[in-house]
Amino acid sequence: MQYRRCGKSGIQLPAISLGLWHNFGDVDDVKVYRKTLHTAFNNGITHFDLANNYGPPPGSAEINFGKILHADFKNHRDELIISSKAGYLMWPGPYGEWGSKKNLVASLDQSLKRMKLDYVDIFYHHRPDPDTPLEESMMALDSIVRQGKALYAGISNYPAKKAAKAFKILKKLGTPCLIHQPRYSMLDRWVEGGLLDELEKSGVGCIPFSPLAQGLLTNKYLKGIPRNSRAAKKHGFLKKDAITKERVEQLQKLNVIAEERGQSLAQMALAWLLKDERVTSVLVGASSSEQLLDSLKCLGNISFEKEELEKIEIILADK
Ligand SMILES: NC(=O)c1ccc[n+]([C@@H]2O[C@H](COP(=O)([O-])OP(=O)(O)OC[C@H]3O[C@@H](n4cnc5c(N)ncnc54)[C@H](OP(=O)(O)O)[C@@H]3O)[C@@H](O)[C@H]2O)c1
Repeated sequence: MQYRRCGKSGIQLPAISLGLWHNFGDVDDVKVYRKTLHTAFNNGITHFDLANNYGPPPGSAEINFGKILHADFKNHRDELIISSKAGYLMWPGPYGEWGSKKNLVASLDQSLKRMKLDYVDIFYHHRPDPDTPLEESMMALDSIVRQGKALYAGISNYPAKKAAKAFKILKKLGTPCLIHQPRYSMLDRWVEGGLLDELEKSGVGCIPFSPLAQGLLTNKYLKGIPRNSRAAKKHGFLKKDAITKERVEQLQKLNVIAEERGQSLAQMALAWLLKDERVTSVLVGASSSEQLLDSLKCLGNISFEKEELEKIEIILADK
């Protein structure tokens, strides 16, 4: 594993981190996800990313992760960076989502109980709240860190300008923001429009989520929609209508370049993100340990020839 410094902090994260949004809920097979967690840890993945609502049902990923953590990794807590988040709908009424102090504090308390932990390493505000004053959400993160319920604060899905304001508030409060978690992949490059520059300027790390575009940027959908794939699952967030004929043709062209590089499409898609030093870690999902092992091999080659990048740009521009 390669470890990369997270912004201007003391923390280093593995170049590949594992997210538990899908594949670790009560609907999933414990034997399979337990093996995935062991494969991750045995290959140097020290960072596991959760949120209050991961499952399904919501909350079950934290419960299941907590059980395996205490059964199999109990002597390794200090080797791990465990994160959780709050902001999306978790319980009924006006306090079960968004960015009030009430929501953030209560949600983290619930997450800690589910995982049977005293603290998480990183606690994120999961999405910006258009109605709550930013100061209130950031003061909630600051007070959570001061109480020792989280070691570091993060934000997710914040656009560049709002992120910059959040960083300023947190810095003033004495709890600098450790990391931003945006969606970023070859197929979704909004962060290149200002956020990455802001993160570099502010010394904040970047951990792109859905770096494989939920599985599109793999060899999985090159010949149809396989059974058991995220697009085929009722609770999967990848919708079948995202897999158009044009998209598949584009993926096939990318796959040719990946093959020329001696990589799988997944490996090339991850390497393409990691070539940028502002990206601290790529946050992958995996429905099996084999997938994770495949993705990990991207670390063998994360540099690109100029011509390769140009060819990729041409393919990506053709939407
Ligand atoms: N902050 C936020 O708002 C937010 C939102 C979404 C996600 N996240 C975080 O980001 C993490 C990753 O998101 P994601 O699961 O969408 O990431 P992803 O890495 O883009 O997609 C993961 C899926 O791709 C397929 N896959 C992975 N590796 C593969 C390989 N080597 N070969 C073939 N297929 C492969 C699997 O699909 P199948 O299941 O079809 O096999 C897997 O479930 C989440 O777990 C969560 O921690 C955060």
